[in-house]
Amino acid sequence: MSSLVIKDLHVAIGEKEIVKGLSLTINSGEVHAIMGPNGTGKSTLAKVIAGHPDYRITSGDVLLDGESILEKEADERARAGLFLAFQYPSEIPGVSIANFLRAALQARMAEGEEIDASGYYKRLYAKMDMLKIDRKFTSRAVNDGFSGGEKKRMEILQLAMLRPKFAILDETDSGLDSDAVRFVSKAVSRLSGPDVAILIITHHERLLEFNKPQQTHVMLAGRIVEHGDAQLAHELHDQGYAGIRARHPDAAAEEEALAKKAEVQAAVKA
Ligand SMILES: Nc1ncnc2c1ncn2[C@@H]1O[C@H](COP(=O)(O)OP(=O)(O)O)[C@@H](O)[C@H]1O
Ligand SMILES: [Mg+2]
Repeated sequence: MSSLVIKDLHVAIGEKEIVKGLSLTINSGEVHAIMGPNGTGKSTLAKVIAGHPDYRITSGDVLLDGESILEKEADERARAGLFLAFQYPSEIPGVSIANFLRAALQARMAEGEEIDASGYYKRLYAKMDMLKIDRKFTSRAVNDGFSGGEKKRMEILQLAMLRPKFAILDETDSGLDSDAVRFVSKAVSRLSGPDVAILIITHHERLLEFNKPQQTHVMLAGRIVEHGDAQLAHELHDQGYAGIRARHPDAAAEEEALAKKAEVQAAVKA
C-alpha cells in the first residue's frame, strides 16, 4: 500500500504565505475531495505536491511512501507515481499528443526498454475512444488551440495512459458541460482501484458522482477548516460556502482581509 502524507505544510510565493499549515494523509484505494472558495490555495497545494518550482515551502513536509519528495524535481515525482491534471493546462506548440504521451511513458521505463509502437497506438486509440476524443487529435500539438473542454479531456487522457499511483485532479470539471463531466467522472472511476489514490479538487459534486470521496476537506484561507464525507461535498455543492464561512469566522475574516488587500494592490497597479 502507498501513502501520500502532507505534514503541517506552509507555502509562500514571494513574501505572501498562501498555504498556512495543512496536513492530509491519502492512502491508495482512497478518493479524497478538496473544496473551497477561489483563492484559498487549492491549486497552490496541488502544484507544490507535483513539484512546481515557483513556490517556496517555508515549513512542513510532503512524504510519498514515507520518504520526503520536496527535494525531488517534478519529473522524479512523476516517475515515483504522482500525476497532476492542471486547472489551467499549458499549450505545447510543436509537440504532438502522440509523441508527448509516448515520451512521458518512455521516461518512466527502465533504461534499454522500448515502447512497442503498435501496442502503444492501440492503447492510445482505446483511451481516446473512451474519452470521446477524435483520433485526429493524435497529430495535433498538445492543447494548442484546444477549447477549455478539450484541454480538460486531454488531461484525463494523460491520466488514463500514465496510470499513476497518485492522481490529483484540479478542477477538471470546469470548462466541461455536464454530459462531459459525467463521462469524465465515469472514466476516472474506471482508472481508480486499490492501488490508486485520487485527490479531486472541485466546487461541484458532479465529478464525484462516480468517485464518491471517503473524505472531503474544505479549505479556507490556506487551511483545511473542515473534514467530512460525500455528504459534506453534497452540502457545499448545494449551498455554497456561506455555511463554512459562518462556522469558521476567523478564517473567513482572514479570507476577506486578503481579498481586500488584493483589490487594493490591483487598484494601485491599474
Ligand atoms: N504564481 C503566483 N504568483 C502570485 N500569487 C499567486 C501565484 N499563484 C497563486 N497565487 C495567489 O495565491 C492565492 C491562492 O491561489 P490558488 O492556489 O490558485 O487558489 P485556488 O486554487 O484555491 O483558487 C491567490 O491569492 C493567488 O492570487
Ligand atoms: Mg485553483
